[in-house]
Amino acid sequence: MSSFYVTTPIYYPNDVPHIGHAYTTVAGDVLTRWRRMFGDDVFFLTGTDEHGLKIQRAAEANGITPQQMVDRTSAQFQETWRLLDIANDDFIRTTEPRHYAGVSQFLQTVYDAGDIELGTYEGLYCVSCEAYYNEDELVDGCCPIHGRPVEHVTEENYFFKLSRYQDPLLHHYAQHPEAVQPDSRRNEVLGFIKQGLRDFSMSRTSINWGVPLPWDPKHVTYVWFDALLNYCTAVGYGTDPQKFERYWPADYHLVGKDILRFHAVYWPAMLMSAGLELPKCVFAHGWLLVGGEKMSKTGLNQIAPADLVAEFGVDGFRYHFMVDQRFGPDGDFSYEAMLARYNSDLANNFGNLANRVLTMAVNYCGGVVPDTRADGPLVDAAAAAFDGLRSNMAKLDFSSGYGAVWELIRATNSFIEDEQPWALNKAGDHAAVAAVIGDCLEALRIVSVLTCPLMPRASAELWRRLGQPGRPDEQRLPDAAGWGLLPAGNRLERGAPLFPRKEPS
Ligand code: ME8
Ligand code: MG
Repeated sequence: MSSFYVTTPIYYPNDVPHIGHAYTTVAGDVLTRWRRMFGDDVFFLTGTDEHGLKIQRAAEANGITPQQMVDRTSAQFQETWRLLDIANDDFIRTTEPRHYAGVSQFLQTVYDAGDIELGTYEGLYCVSCEAYYNEDELVDGCCPIHGRPVEHVTEENYFFKLSRYQDPLLHHYAQHPEAVQPDSRRNEVLGFIKQGLRDFSMSRTSINWGVPLPWDPKHVTYVWFDALLNYCTAVGYGTDPQKFERYWPADYHLVGKDILRFHAVYWPAMLMSAGLELPKCVFAHGWLLVGGEKMSKTGLNQIAPADLVAEFGVDGFRYHFMVDQRFGPDGDFSYEAMLARYNSDLANNFGNLANRVLTMAVNYCGGVVPDTRADGPLVDAAAAAFDGLRSNMAKLDFSSGYGAVWELIRATNSFIEDEQPWALNKAGDHAAVAAVIGDCLEALRIVSVLTCPLMPRASAELWRRLGQPGRPDEQRLPDAAGWGLLPAGNRLERGAPLFPRKEPS
């Protein structure tokens, strides 16, 4: 069994989760569920990034301690992931003792390697990013991401000697062009590295909400240095060497493009310094925009996942963000577009197909699965759906992958239009009716299997209605995508519409 380790960013619990966080997390979940169906030993990690000035200030603004703040908000993230059927294997909080243990070990290793030195930092800081900026990176004197004023800071800090890693990083990315995706993001990273890397400040004395440096506990670790390490500490770095051996290096770090530099420049340099393997791929997706603006906790236009789930269901939510929004470029979120695609793709195409096939099977075939033709006319469409999903999932192109599955749904609907089983039934041609319905039911079984990572609920419900034992997520690919596996004689259930049509509210 090969291991497959997928991560999301660990989110700042300075405020509640919004659909931007859900976007990355659902993507990780779909990938996780997909790989599990191939029998991989998948480990899917998410969590919260609980130190730093931003958290400390948010706590002060709310009149509570940082610990109270993160306890409260981290719980809201966990609740949101339960709501969205996220099947994460662990949830790391950077305030946990296991994280402190791993961070301390890592810091000492890098310090002993001679990559950390004392110096004085003077410059501009954006608290929302928890990042330093050069004058020329600012937009109208403000942070380019948050549009907020930056702060001038002078501090005695320890510095991480990033400059030493310029050539090793370029060498690494030349050897492993797949290590940053999509391609446009790799070019951005290479451009940044080639401009010249400067050492970065990795400790603070002005705050105490952080992991103390083992050799100089007046300093706490800079929040990003500590945060990135979650990917190692969660799989046992510093506490469980066997587990670490089993899962590290990560196969995918899924991140938004806002934090690409930290993941594709700082992080691999830190790992090189500690003598650890580098992640196989950092995949940076674009931003979800609302009315053309990046939606974020620091902006005003945030949308709570729970509101959309109440309207469209969990599966409708997951479908929209993985299929209507491409994973890579920026995309605009609009309620109207979400509603339109829900009605066309889920209510009309998928839901209606399931409904009409099961209804006809009940009416014309006594609610029992007839024999399926080994070479039925939908065999090729079913094979193409699986191939299309598989090849696109390998590129994290969820939208095209599921587009291929929807081709099978459309092909099956057209097949029904062409064959007119109601006319065959009227003409008393029971063998022909059984052949058509049998093929459609088999196509539905395959749709149930293939939609399982994306829409676990609808998939499982369809599986049950097809009279299948067990659950679709227990099926193993590629075998389960083969044609002709729905047993004749299964008892069917018609059921209520899987995706009731929605009127604009
Ligand atoms: O950056 N569109 O946490 P964060 C798409 N703690 N994705 C979005 C988004 C949007 N509008 N807004 C947020 C941090 N995201 C650090 C990470 S990792 C070691 C530390 C998603 O709470 C996207 O994945 O600001 C983005 O990278 C992440 O949330 C930022 O979350
Ligand atoms: Mg952010």
